[in-house]
Amino acid sequence: MVESKELVRELQGMRDDGHLSDALLRRAVRKIASADKRISWVGVYLLNAEGNELWLHNYVGSPTEHAKIAVGKGVCGTAVAEKANQNIPDVRKVENYLSCNPDVQSELVVLIRAGEIIFGEVDLDSEEIKAFSADDQKSVEAIADKLAEQLMAERR
Ligand code: SME
Repeated sequence: MVESKELVRELQGMRDDGHLSDALLRRAVRKIASADKRISWVGVYLLNAEGNELWLHNYVGSPTEHAKIAVGKGVCGTAVAEKANQNIPDVRKVENYLSCNPDVQSELVVLIRAGEIIFGEVDLDSEEIKAFSADDQKSVEAIADKLAEQLMAERR
């Protein structure tokens, strides 16, 4: 189970101390990665200025060839295209799944958003099937919402 309360508090503390989104995004990825043994890879993708591509900001786990993902492609691009979080119990059942590691079996993608404005997403992979529960999703949503608050504050 990914615990969000402590991390959300920590991220708010960083905001209060004047840290920018770059630091918050890196902190969140590292904390989520160490939260749960079921998580084999976690990263943040940010939407580019044109809004048509996700660019990998930072991650923990094996290197991936998917540093840039077009909106609409893979689980990550689908989340943006459909403006909806994706909790995929079995990635083999997803037709346009983009694999970066053949051992990955399930994936959770949570948008970093403020209402209709999408900044990017948090992407979690697991080598276990059906790894992510509805509660895990809620926790990552709370973390993503805090990240969105800072990204919104920096928006010009
Ligand atoms: N599996 C993702 C691609 C990103 S990697 O997992 C790091 C997808 O289908 O979009």
